[in-house]
Amino acid sequence: MKIQAKKIQMIHLPTPLEYLPALSAELGVELYIKRDDLTSLAMGGNKMRKLEYLAAEAVDQGATMLLTVGGAQTNHGRQTAGVAARLGMKCVIACIDRYPGEISANILLDRIMGAEVVFEAPTGEKGQQEALVRRLIEKYEAAGEKVYYIPVGGSNAAGLPGYYECACELDAQARAMGIGGARVVSAVGSIGTYMGLFCGLRNEGSDLRLTGIAISDFGPDKEVRLQEYFDEVRQHFGMTCTAERADFDIETGYVREGYNQPNADVRQAIYLMARKEGIILDPCYTGKAFAGLLDMIREGKIQKGEKIIFLHSGGQPGINTPHHRVEFERELLDGITVL
Ligand SMILES: Cc1ncc(COP(=O)(O)O)c(C=O)c1O
Repeated sequence: MKIQAKKIQMIHLPTPLEYLPALSAELGVELYIKRDDLTSLAMGGNKMRKLEYLAAEAVDQGATMLLTVGGAQTNHGRQTAGVAARLGMKCVIACIDRYPGEISANILLDRIMGAEVVFEAPTGEKGQQEALVRRLIEKYEAAGEKVYYIPVGGSNAAGLPGYYECACELDAQARAMGIGGARVVSAVGSIGTYMGLFCGLRNEGSDLRLTGIAISDFGPDKEVRLQEYFDEVRQHFGMTCTAERADFDIETGYVREGYNQPNADVRQAIYLMARKEGIILDPCYTGKAFAGLLDMIREGKIQKGEKIIFLHSGGQPGINTPHHRVEFERELLDGITVL
């Protein structure tokens, strides 16, 4: 790894890279899956890789509390709660979201792990999140805590080495399996996972290619963030590689109804992966990204026979979030027989 950063090891790496024979035959591509849902702590997922690095910085700064932000269903919040528990720290998760009138699966897990969750309904005003974070830091520091703040998704320079490291891991695994040149496909939310992979593959000279599939609107703010984030990381780690917009391959046309909206195609994609391979995806991120990948194959954007590595970034607790669960139950009750 050509960049240097300290981490606290909390998960067992490398995660497996597996061939999916039945789905490959069904779809006419050579499909592999990178099992980053198997990152062990707090039910796993992609944020654990970033949090190993963020935790090291928090401990170095003498933090007693982790504060992070996310939506009502944040997987990142859940994994942050797990890390705080492991480090003996307090954890507070701030959600700029209407309290949805249901306890999402992740918030239930946050509370099981002892994290506090604060909701503030969105006002539409710019800077609301920053103001809430400032108020919470003041409040908890006045009560004697030393707060370490982790931005949404752990997607900053300090968290980036997590997916940079995953890129190195994937490159070595792909070479060992004889699938150099494969296309890695990942869900894109707060961009950290994509950016870590992008920087790792590019800066290390890997021949793996990378396609991101946006799971929420990829508007002008995200476009700006993409380049700013790359420039920030490049400078922070002294990377020599360069990149401009055309180098970032992000599909923005598979968002469907919007962030975390229950959607029939996404559920069909989840059933397909589960019924062919016994692997469970989630309704907000990986199920949607996989539905996008299926569309790309159907539309010929992915060629028959192509080698694809789909990143399973976790999120499965989301299946049990009430508004998703209701839809699954409606579609699946017919296969339950009570004798
Ligand atoms: C399961 C899952 N997959 C993918 C993502 C997207 O990762 P990123 O926010 O780094 O783009 C997230 C983010 O919350 C996630 O929880």
